[in-house]
Amino acid sequence: MAARAITIAAIALAVGLGALIWWDAQVHVAPGSAVPDLNAGERVAAGRAAYAEHCAACHGAQLEGQQNWRDRLPSGRLPAPPHDETGHTWHHPFEVLFALTKNGLVPPYAPQGYQSDMPGFADRLSDDDIWNVLAYIRSRWSDRARSAHNELQRQHAAQRNR
Ligand code: HEC
Repeated sequence: MAARAITIAAIALAVGLGALIWWDAQVHVAPGSAVPDLNAGERVAAGRAAYAEHCAACHGAQLEGQQNWRDRLPSGRLPAPPHDETGHTWHHPFEVLFALTKNGLVPPYAPQGYQSDMPGFADRLSDDDIWNVLAYIRSRWSDRARSAHNELQRQHAAQRNR
């Protein structure tokens, strides 16, 4: 009798756990809602190193961007904008920043054939590396910019799930 009760309890637990994992997967792996927790300290630290290695040469060691970044270069291309809050990085949802970093300035977030000095990093950085860099960039914004961006992110998610 006791053995049966234990078996039933074990089955109930397994089913419950399965449901929980399934629910978790729906919440966290649903298309387009794959932005991980960017507050984690390890992410920010790893992102700082990856930023220094892969982004700082163009976007600046202090995220300040290239000089006169609003003016086109003689080549007709744009210089690298700042990633601190004097730029427009924080005006874009993370899904957009992620895609631009991974693929470069190609559709759907840039016009077909757009000429840019921004390389795509798909061959050099894993998805996780890219999220780390974005976590670091975000960590450098003021509380005010971060909460404005949180709100933008919330609206973006609401629109997508409509
Ligand atoms: C070789 C120089 C170079 C390197 C290295 C570089 N970028 Fe860029 N990046 C640019 C340029 C130039 C632009 C502006 C392109 C344009 O608008 O045509 C840009 C634009 C961007 C944008 C779009 C910003 C916006 O607000 O529209 C993002 C995001 C970005 N870079 C992220 C990164 C990240 C993250 C790294 C490092 C992993 C990186 N970049 C490394 C040159 C570079």
